[in-house]
Amino acid sequence: MPLIPAPLYRGLLRPILFSLDPEVAHHLTLSMLSMMPPLPVAPDPPELHSSLWGMEFSNPIGLAAGMDKDAIAIGAWQSLGFGFAELGTITPRPQPGNPKPRVFRLPEHHALINRLGFPSEGMEAVAPRIERARRGATRIRLALNFGPNKDTPAEQVAADYTVLMTRLAPLADFIVINVSSPNTPGLRNWQSPERMRELFGGVSGAHPPMLLKVAPDLDEPTLDLLCDTAIELRLDGMVVCNTTVKREEVGVTSTETGGLSGSPLRDLARTRIATVYRRTQGKLPIIGVGGIMNAEDALGHIKAGASLIELYTGLIYEGPGLITSMKKSLTNLLRREGFRSISEAVGSAART
Ligand SMILES: Cc1cc2nc3c(=O)[nH]c(=O)nc-3n(C[C@H](O)[C@H](O)[C@H](O)COP(=O)(O)O)c2cc1C
Repeated sequence: MPLIPAPLYRGLLRPILFSLDPEVAHHLTLSMLSMMPPLPVAPDPPELHSSLWGMEFSNPIGLAAGMDKDAIAIGAWQSLGFGFAELGTITPRPQPGNPKPRVFRLPEHHALINRLGFPSEGMEAVAPRIERARRGATRIRLALNFGPNKDTPAEQVAADYTVLMTRLAPLADFIVINVSSPNTPGLRNWQSPERMRELFGGVSGAHPPMLLKVAPDLDEPTLDLLCDTAIELRLDGMVVCNTTVKREEVGVTSTETGGLSGSPLRDLARTRIATVYRRTQGKLPIIGVGGIMNAEDALGHIKAGASLIELYTGLIYEGPGLITSMKKSLTNLLRREGFRSISEAVGSAART
Protein backbone atom coordinates (compact mmCIF):
# COMPACT_ATOMS: atom_id res chain seq x y z
CA MET A 1 0.00 0.00 0.00
CA PRO A 2 2.56 2.66 0.92
CA LEU A 3 4.35 2.12 -2.36
CA ILE A 4 1.27 3.11 -4.35
CA PRO A 5 2.21 6.36 -6.10
CA ALA A 6 -0.37 9.15 -6.17
CA PRO A 7 -1.25 8.83 -9.91
CA LEU A 8 -1.95 5.12 -9.47
CA TYR A 9 -4.05 5.77 -6.40
CA ARG A 10 -6.02 8.59 -8.07
CA GLY A 11 -6.38 6.78 -11.39
CA LEU A 12 -7.15 3.26 -10.24
CA LEU A 13 -7.56 2.53 -6.57
CA ARG A 14 -9.53 5.61 -5.55
CA PRO A 15 -12.23 5.11 -8.22
CA ILE A 16 -12.67 1.53 -7.00
CA LEU A 17 -12.85 2.56 -3.34
CA PHE A 18 -15.14 5.50 -4.16
CA SER A 19 -17.55 3.12 -5.95
CA LEU A 20 -18.15 1.49 -2.55
CA ASP A 21 -20.07 2.83 0.41
CA PRO A 22 -17.60 5.06 2.35
CA GLU A 23 -17.75 2.96 5.50
CA VAL A 24 -17.36 -0.32 3.58
CA ALA A 25 -14.33 1.17 1.76
CA HIS A 26 -12.95 2.29 5.11
CA HIS A 27 -13.19 -1.15 6.72
CA LEU A 28 -11.81 -2.86 3.63
CA THR A 29 -8.79 -0.56 3.55
CA LEU A 30 -8.24 -0.82 7.28
CA SER A 31 -8.33 -4.61 7.29
CA MET A 32 -5.87 -4.68 4.38
CA LEU A 33 -3.59 -2.32 6.29
CA SER A 34 -3.90 -4.42 9.43
CA MET A 35 -2.62 -7.46 7.55
CA MET A 36 0.32 -5.65 6.03
CA PRO A 37 3.71 -6.89 7.23
CA PRO A 38 5.90 -4.15 8.70
CA LEU A 39 7.86 -2.36 6.00
CA PRO A 40 11.23 -0.69 6.38
CA VAL A 41 10.86 3.08 6.50
CA ALA A 42 13.62 5.40 5.27
CA PRO A 43 15.00 7.56 8.10
CA ASP A 44 13.43 11.01 8.26
CA PRO A 45 15.60 14.02 7.43
CA PRO A 46 16.90 15.81 10.55
CA GLU A 47 14.93 18.96 9.68
CA LEU A 48 11.71 17.03 10.40
CA HIS A 49 12.74 15.81 13.84
CA SER A 50 11.31 17.51 16.87
CA SER A 51 11.18 17.09 20.59
CA LEU A 52 8.04 17.71 22.63
CA TRP A 53 7.18 16.83 26.23
CA GLY A 54 10.63 15.25 26.49
CA MET A 55 9.85 12.87 23.59
CA GLU A 56 11.42 12.64 20.16
CA PHE A 57 9.20 12.75 17.08
CA SER A 58 10.93 11.54 13.94
CA ASN A 59 8.61 13.69 11.82
CA PRO A 60 5.68 15.97 12.67
CA ILE A 61 2.97 14.20 10.63
CA GLY A 62 0.42 12.19 12.57
CA LEU A 63 -2.66 10.16 11.82
CA ALA A 64 -5.74 11.98 13.13
CA ALA A 65 -8.24 10.27 15.42
CA GLY A 66 -11.12 8.36 13.87
CA MET A 67 -9.21 6.44 11.21
CA ASP A 68 -8.08 3.65 13.54
CA LYS A 69 -10.60 3.82 16.35
CA ASP A 70 -9.90 0.32 17.65
CA ALA A 71 -6.12 0.24 17.14
CA ILE A 72 -6.17 -2.58 14.61
CA ALA A 73 -3.54 -1.30 12.13
CA ILE A 74 -0.85 0.27 14.31
CA GLY A 75 2.04 -1.26 12.36
CA ALA A 76 0.71 0.13 9.10
CA TRP A 77 0.84 3.74 10.30
CA GLN A 78 4.52 3.32 10.96
CA SER A 79 5.03 1.66 7.55
CA LEU A 80 3.23 4.55 5.82
CA GLY A 81 5.78 6.94 7.36
CA PHE A 82 3.78 8.71 10.05
CA GLY A 83 5.70 10.18 13.00
CA PHE A 84 2.81 9.33 15.32
CA ALA A 85 -0.73 7.99 15.31
CA GLU A 86 -3.70 9.07 17.39
CA LEU A 87 -5.84 5.99 18.04
CA GLY A 88 -9.51 6.25 19.00
CA THR A 89 -11.84 7.72 19.97
CA ILE A 90 -11.93 4.88 22.50
CA THR A 91 -14.93 4.61 24.83
CA PRO A 92 -14.99 2.68 28.12
CA ARG A 93 -17.60 0.14 27.00
CA PRO A 94 -18.21 -1.17 23.46
CA GLN A 95 -20.93 0.68 21.52
CA PRO A 96 -22.19 0.56 17.92
CA GLY A 97 -22.40 4.29 17.14
CA ASN A 98 -25.18 5.96 15.18
CA PRO A 99 -27.44 4.32 12.56
CA LYS A 100 -26.01 3.94 9.04
CA PRO A 101 -25.46 5.56 6.59
CA ARG A 102 -23.25 7.91 8.60
CA VAL A 103 -20.25 8.77 6.42
CA PHE A 104 -20.58 10.78 3.21
CA ARG A 105 -18.05 11.85 0.58
CA LEU A 106 -18.09 15.31 -0.99
CA PRO A 107 -15.58 14.66 -3.81
CA GLU A 108 -16.03 18.08 -5.40
CA HIS A 109 -14.80 19.63 -2.14
CA HIS A 110 -12.23 16.98 -1.15
CA ALA A 111 -14.26 16.64 2.03
CA LEU A 112 -16.21 14.18 4.16
CA ILE A 113 -19.19 14.47 6.47
CA ASN A 114 -19.48 11.94 9.27
CA ARG A 115 -21.91 11.33 12.09
CA LEU A 116 -20.41 8.05 13.31
CA GLY A 117 -21.01 8.77 17.00
CA PHE A 118 -17.98 6.89 18.37
CA PRO A 119 -18.44 3.29 17.28
CA SER A 120 -15.89 1.59 19.53
CA GLU A 121 -14.98 -1.92 20.56
CA GLY A 122 -14.31 -0.45 23.99
CA MET A 123 -11.15 -0.07 26.02
CA GLU A 124 -10.78 -3.73 27.00
CA ALA A 125 -10.60 -4.79 23.34
CA VAL A 126 -8.17 -2.04 22.43
CA ALA A 127 -5.70 -2.34 25.34
CA PRO A 128 -4.15 -5.71 24.38
CA ARG A 129 -3.60 -4.52 20.79
CA ILE A 130 -1.60 -1.55 22.00
CA GLU A 131 0.31 -3.74 24.45
CA ARG A 132 1.17 -6.12 21.59
CA ALA A 133 2.35 -3.25 19.37
CA ARG A 134 4.51 -1.94 22.20
CA ARG A 135 6.15 -5.33 22.62
CA GLY A 136 6.68 -5.65 18.85
CA ALA A 137 8.33 -3.48 16.26
CA THR A 138 6.27 -0.31 16.76
CA ARG A 139 8.51 2.69 17.22
CA ILE A 140 6.22 5.59 16.31
CA ARG A 141 4.56 7.61 19.03
CA LEU A 142 1.06 6.50 19.97
CA ALA A 143 -1.57 8.92 21.24
CA LEU A 144 -4.85 7.63 22.64
CA ASN A 145 -8.04 9.64 22.19
CA PHE A 146 -10.74 9.22 24.84
CA GLY A 147 -14.50 9.82 24.71
CA PRO A 148 -17.49 8.90 26.87
CA ASN A 149 -20.14 6.30 26.01
CA LYS A 150 -23.26 7.72 24.44
CA ASP A 151 -25.57 6.35 27.14
CA THR A 152 -23.45 7.68 30.00
CA PRO A 153 -25.52 10.23 31.95
CA ALA A 154 -24.07 13.76 32.00
CA GLU A 155 -23.11 13.51 35.67
CA GLN A 156 -21.05 10.37 34.94
CA VAL A 157 -19.12 11.66 31.91
CA ALA A 158 -16.13 12.79 33.97
CA ALA A 159 -16.02 9.30 35.51
CA ASP A 160 -15.87 7.77 31.99
CA TYR A 161 -12.70 9.77 31.27
CA THR A 162 -11.23 8.71 34.64
CA VAL A 163 -11.90 5.03 33.88
CA LEU A 164 -10.19 5.41 30.48
CA MET A 165 -7.24 7.19 32.07
CA THR A 166 -6.79 4.48 34.67
CA ARG A 167 -6.93 1.63 32.15
CA LEU A 168 -5.13 3.10 29.15
CA ALA A 169 -2.89 5.99 30.21
CA PRO A 170 0.07 3.67 30.97
CA LEU A 171 -0.02 2.56 27.31
CA ALA A 172 -0.05 6.03 25.77
CA ASP A 173 2.73 8.42 24.77
CA PHE A 174 0.13 11.13 25.16
CA ILE A 175 -3.58 11.40 25.69
CA VAL A 176 -6.21 13.43 23.88
CA ILE A 177 -9.42 14.24 25.69
CA ASN A 178 -12.07 14.58 23.03
CA VAL A 179 -14.85 16.94 24.02
CA SER A 180 -15.44 18.24 20.52
CA SER A 181 -17.16 15.58 18.43
CA PRO A 182 -20.44 16.99 17.11
CA ASN A 183 -21.96 13.49 17.01
CA THR A 184 -22.35 12.65 20.70
CA PRO A 185 -25.19 14.73 22.16
CA GLY A 186 -24.05 17.17 24.86
CA LEU A 187 -20.33 16.39 24.44
CA ARG A 188 -19.38 19.83 23.19
CA ASN A 189 -20.87 21.38 26.36
CA TRP A 190 -17.73 20.14 28.12
CA GLN A 191 -15.83 22.90 26.32
CA SER A 192 -16.33 25.37 29.16
CA PRO A 193 -13.97 26.42 31.97
CA GLU A 194 -16.24 24.99 34.72
CA ARG A 195 -16.66 21.65 32.99
CA MET A 196 -12.94 21.51 32.18
CA ARG A 197 -12.10 22.01 35.85
CA GLU A 198 -14.50 19.16 36.64
CA LEU A 199 -12.83 16.92 34.03
CA PHE A 200 -9.19 17.69 34.75
CA GLY A 201 -9.26 18.93 38.35
CA GLY A 202 -9.45 15.35 39.65
CA VAL A 203 -6.49 14.06 37.64
CA SER A 204 -3.55 13.49 39.92
CA GLY A 205 -0.33 11.51 40.01
CA ALA A 206 2.03 10.84 37.13
CA HIS A 207 0.40 10.55 33.74
CA PRO A 208 1.42 11.01 30.12
CA PRO A 209 0.97 14.47 28.57
CA MET A 210 -2.72 15.30 28.35
CA LEU A 211 -4.19 17.38 25.52
CA LEU A 212 -7.66 18.78 24.91
CA LYS A 213 -9.20 18.47 21.44
CA VAL A 214 -11.43 21.41 20.58
CA ALA A 215 -14.04 22.18 17.94
CA PRO A 216 -13.49 24.79 15.25
CA ASP A 217 -17.00 26.08 15.92
CA LEU A 218 -16.21 27.80 19.23
CA ASP A 219 -16.25 31.57 18.94
CA GLU A 220 -12.95 33.34 19.58
CA PRO A 221 -13.77 34.63 23.12
CA THR A 222 -14.76 31.11 24.24
CA LEU A 223 -11.62 29.67 22.71
CA ASP A 224 -9.55 32.31 24.53
CA LEU A 225 -11.22 31.29 27.81
CA LEU A 226 -10.47 27.62 27.17
CA CYS A 227 -6.84 28.46 26.49
CA ASP A 228 -6.61 30.31 29.80
CA THR A 229 -8.23 27.36 31.59
CA ALA A 230 -5.90 24.89 29.87
CA ILE A 231 -2.92 26.85 31.20
CA GLU A 232 -4.51 27.13 34.66
CA LEU A 233 -5.10 23.35 34.76
CA ARG A 234 -1.58 22.69 33.46
CA LEU A 235 -2.73 20.76 30.43
CA ASP A 236 0.08 19.80 28.09
CA GLY A 237 -1.40 20.96 24.82
CA MET A 238 -4.40 21.34 22.53
CA VAL A 239 -5.48 19.52 19.40
CA VAL A 240 -6.97 22.13 17.09
CA CYS A 241 -9.40 21.06 15.71
CA ASN A 242 -12.20 18.54 15.26
CA THR A 243 -14.72 18.55 12.40
CA THR A 244 -17.07 21.50 11.84
CA VAL A 245 -20.85 21.74 11.79
CA LYS A 246 -20.55 24.85 9.58
CA ARG A 247 -21.57 24.54 5.94
CA GLU A 248 -22.19 27.79 3.99
CA GLU A 249 -19.45 29.65 5.93
CA VAL A 250 -16.92 27.16 4.60
CA GLY A 251 -18.38 27.07 1.09
CA VAL A 252 -20.22 23.75 1.27
CA THR A 253 -23.85 23.04 0.53
CA SER A 254 -24.92 19.72 1.98
CA THR A 255 -27.93 18.85 4.06
CA GLU A 256 -26.28 15.84 5.72
CA THR A 257 -25.80 16.46 9.42
CA GLY A 258 -22.50 15.65 11.10
CA GLY A 259 -18.95 16.90 11.17
CA LEU A 260 -17.31 18.20 8.01
CA SER A 261 -13.62 17.49 7.41
CA GLY A 262 -11.16 18.01 4.57
CA SER A 263 -10.24 20.98 2.38
CA PRO A 264 -13.12 23.31 3.36
CA LEU A 265 -11.96 23.10 6.99
CA ARG A 266 -8.38 24.16 6.31
CA ASP A 267 -8.59 27.95 6.67
CA LEU A 268 -10.95 27.79 9.67
CA ALA A 269 -8.60 25.33 11.42
CA ARG A 270 -5.64 27.60 10.70
CA THR A 271 -7.44 30.62 12.15
CA ARG A 272 -8.21 28.63 15.33
CA ILE A 273 -4.59 27.39 15.57
CA ALA A 274 -3.38 31.00 15.30
CA THR A 275 -5.83 32.09 18.02
CA VAL A 276 -4.65 29.39 20.43
CA TYR A 277 -1.00 30.13 19.66
CA ARG A 278 -1.44 33.85 20.27
CA ARG A 279 -3.50 33.42 23.44
CA THR A 280 -1.10 30.90 24.98
CA GLN A 281 1.95 32.83 23.73
CA GLY A 282 3.31 29.63 22.27
CA LYS A 283 3.56 28.02 25.72
CA LEU A 284 1.06 25.26 25.02
CA PRO A 285 2.04 22.90 22.20
CA ILE A 286 -0.62 22.68 19.50
CA ILE A 287 -1.38 19.76 17.22
CA GLY A 288 -2.83 21.36 14.09
CA VAL A 289 -5.43 19.33 12.22
CA GLY A 290 -8.04 20.15 9.62
CA GLY A 291 -7.92 20.19 5.84
CA ILE A 292 -4.30 19.20 5.32
CA MET A 293 -3.96 17.73 1.82
CA ASN A 294 -0.29 18.44 1.06
CA ALA A 295 2.99 19.81 2.45
CA GLU A 296 2.01 23.47 1.86
CA ASP A 297 -1.12 22.97 3.98
CA ALA A 298 0.97 21.32 6.70
CA LEU A 299 3.55 24.11 6.75
CA GLY A 300 0.75 26.70 6.87
CA HIS A 301 -0.63 25.13 10.06
CA ILE A 302 2.90 24.88 11.51
CA LYS A 303 3.63 28.54 10.76
CA ALA A 304 0.30 29.47 12.38
CA GLY A 305 1.49 27.79 15.58
CA ALA A 306 1.22 23.99 15.34
CA SER A 307 4.19 21.97 16.65
CA LEU A 308 2.80 18.77 15.12
CA ILE A 309 0.11 18.20 12.51
CA GLU A 310 -2.37 15.43 11.77
CA LEU A 311 -4.57 14.42 8.89
CA TYR A 312 -7.39 12.05 8.05
CA THR A 313 -9.40 13.16 5.02
CA GLY A 314 -6.23 13.88 3.00
CA LEU A 315 -5.40 10.20 3.17
CA ILE A 316 -8.78 9.28 1.64
CA TYR A 317 -8.33 11.66 -1.31
CA GLU A 318 -4.56 11.40 -1.86
CA GLY A 319 -3.85 7.82 -0.84
CA PRO A 320 -1.26 6.03 1.26
CA GLY A 321 1.75 7.48 -0.58
CA LEU A 322 0.82 10.93 0.74
CA ILE A 323 2.94 10.79 3.88
CA THR A 324 6.19 9.92 2.13
CA SER A 325 5.67 12.57 -0.54
CA MET A 326 4.59 15.16 2.06
CA LYS A 327 7.73 14.59 4.11
CA LYS A 328 9.91 15.14 1.04
CA SER A 329 8.07 18.30 0.01
CA LEU A 330 7.93 19.62 3.57
CA THR A 331 11.71 19.24 3.89
CA ASN A 332 12.20 21.12 0.61
CA LEU A 333 9.78 23.87 1.66
CA LEU A 334 11.54 24.32 4.99
CA ARG A 335 14.91 24.61 3.27
CA ARG A 336 13.58 27.01 0.66
CA GLU A 337 12.06 29.25 3.33
CA GLY A 338 15.29 29.23 5.36
CA PHE A 339 14.05 27.18 8.35
CA ARG A 340 16.61 24.74 9.73
CA SER A 341 13.97 22.75 11.62
CA ILE A 342 10.23 22.40 12.21
CA SER A 343 10.57 24.14 15.57
CA GLU A 344 11.99 27.26 13.89
CA ALA A 345 8.90 27.43 11.70
CA VAL A 346 6.35 26.94 14.52
CA GLY A 347 4.36 30.15 14.95
CA SER A 348 6.57 32.10 12.54
CA ALA A 349 3.49 33.59 10.84
CA ALA A 350 2.43 35.07 14.19
CA ARG A 351 5.78 36.82 14.56
CA THR A 352 5.79 38.55 11.18
C1 LIG B 1 -14.83 9.58 9.41
C2 LIG B 1 -14.20 10.40 10.50
C3 LIG B 1 -14.24 9.94 11.82
C4 LIG B 1 -13.66 10.70 12.83
N1 LIG B 1 -13.66 10.22 14.10
C5 LIG B 1 -13.06 10.94 15.10
C6 LIG B 1 -13.01 10.43 16.41
O1 LIG B 1 -13.44 9.31 16.70
N2 LIG B 1 -12.43 11.22 17.36
C7 LIG B 1 -11.90 12.45 17.10
O2 LIG B 1 -11.38 13.11 18.00
N3 LIG B 1 -11.93 12.94 15.83
C8 LIG B 1 -12.48 12.22 14.84
N4 LIG B 1 -12.49 12.71 13.56
C9 LIG B 1 -11.93 14.06 13.30
C10 LIG B 1 -10.49 14.00 12.81
O3 LIG B 1 -9.63 13.47 13.79
C11 LIG B 1 -10.00 15.42 12.42
O4 LIG B 1 -10.03 16.24 13.58
C12 LIG B 1 -10.87 16.07 11.35
O5 LIG B 1 -11.30 15.11 10.41
C13 LIG B 1 -10.13 17.17 10.60
O6 LIG B 1 -8.99 16.67 9.93
P1 LIG B 1 -8.98 16.32 8.35
O7 LIG B 1 -9.55 17.49 7.64
O8 LIG B 1 -7.53 16.05 8.04
O9 LIG B 1 -9.81 15.09 8.20
C14 LIG B 1 -13.05 11.96 12.53
C15 LIG B 1 -13.02 12.39 11.20
C16 LIG B 1 -13.57 11.64 10.20
C17 LIG B 1 -13.52 12.15 8.77
